Amino acid sequence: MDPLPHPPSPDFFASMPIFAKVIFISMIVIVVVLLIYTCFRGYIAKTDKASVACTQDSRVQPLNIDEFLSDIEKLKPMMFTSQQLSSATSNFSYKLGAGGFGKVYKGTLSNGINVAVKVLEGRSDHRIEAQFMAEVSTIGRTHHVNLVRLIGFCFEESMTALVYEYMERGSLDKFLFTCKEKLGFDKLQKIAVGTAKAIAYLHEECQERIIHYDIKPGNILLDRSFSPKVADFGLAKLCNRDATHVTMTGGRGTPGYAAPELWMPFPITHKCDIYSYGMLLFEIVGRRRNLEMSFPESQEWLPRWVWEKFEKGEIEETLMSFEIGEENKEVAERMVLIALWCVQYKPELRPCMSNVVKMLEGGVEIFPPPNPFTHLIGGTSVMDSQQLKAITEEEPYSETTSTMKRFEIRVDS
Ligand SMILES: Nc1ncnc2c1ncn2[C@@H]1O[C@H](COP(=O)(O)OP(=O)(O)OP(=O)(O)O)[C@@H](O)[C@H]1O
Ligand SMILES: [Mg+2]
Repeated sequence: MDPLPHPPSPDFFASMPIFAKVIFISMIVIVVVLLIYTCFRGYIAKTDKASVACTQDSRVQPLNIDEFLSDIEKLKPMMFTSQQLSSATSNFSYKLGAGGFGKVYKGTLSNGINVAVKVLEGRSDHRIEAQFMAEVSTIGRTHHVNLVRLIGFCFEESMTALVYEYMERGSLDKFLFTCKEKLGFDKLQKIAVGTAKAIAYLHEECQERIIHYDIKPGNILLDRSFSPKVADFGLAKLCNRDATHVTMTGGRGTPGYAAPELWMPFPITHKCDIYSYGMLLFEIVGRRRNLEMSFPESQEWLPRWVWEKFEKGEIEETLMSFEIGEENKEVAERMVLIALWCVQYKPELRPCMSNVVKMLEGGVEIFPPPNPFTHLIGGTSVMDSQQLKAITEEEPYSETTSTMKRFEIRVDS
């Protein structure tokens, strides 16, 4: 009896049939390749972690790219120290611009991601602190392809700042008013639709309605391919879903875009954003500022000129002055009619944003708008009540968001 198997003798291999030899050698090759591959992956992972660790301040949140992306995914804004932002922006050397609340600098995080750092001025100023808190809590919870992402923030004694995704092309105002090279109509139309979708999301899709309060070309940023993203929820305020409107004390918005109710003692609703959007839409179609004192008197204020031409049935003439090609006239006319609806003096006459999106996309008929400027230039507006209902009626604000619908989640009652 032989208790143990013998190891293969040296002539064992020679005695194997040819096909067995081929299988045997192939298996050895596969095992060796797998071993080399596993060792190589381990090495890469180690060097990756080491390079991230050595570029970071030890007090700083980890910026490993996977964790970073997963944090973004979970809509968690990251906290940065002022030293970190200083090194990301090469000591705040590249200024992108400045607005009402501070300066904006270009920076690059240690993981290579480009950012725009908005350093808020005057920490002791109550308005700025309120804006900071509002932005962090509202932007951090919103996610839409046409909204600028808030990546993180810094909240220190020496500095308060917001860190946004960087938008390569900057803001829309530059392209509408100062750039020699004008944007083509196709791009402008996409910008108008994308912006409208972002506002519709803020008003109608977010779990808690967000009113922007400062829609204007400077707050529409463009990415490399000119896709629009709405920036600055600095003036945004979360609406209590139970309330029909928010009451506010101080004045808000930017002159020329702010709805009349923002500077008069009237209730303020999300319809103030529709008004600002209408003003923006005139500027997008016209590729000029609404107020241009260098134009002939009748054309100085674009919205009123558009209305007067529309009323006389001469809107074509206005479109020609915008240098809009024959192929785009129909769409451009739709856009100015929508703008006239959006800037109605009475908020309840303005359409809701999801209706604006439908009208822009040509999905619904646009009825002739009533005169938005009766309070300024007199005249009456004859309206067909059925048509008016079709344009302005909106779904009651629903607590069921699209995400909730997708996952069949409902609010417990
Ligand atoms: N995320 C960003 N990516 C690229 N550039 C940006 C970004 N955010 C802001 N900028 C640039 O910085 C400029 C200043 O922005 P800021 O928001 O401070 O001022 P504003 O929009 O002109 O006014 P407001 O304070 O009323 O918002 C913008 O016009 C834009 O060119
Ligand atoms: Mg801004």
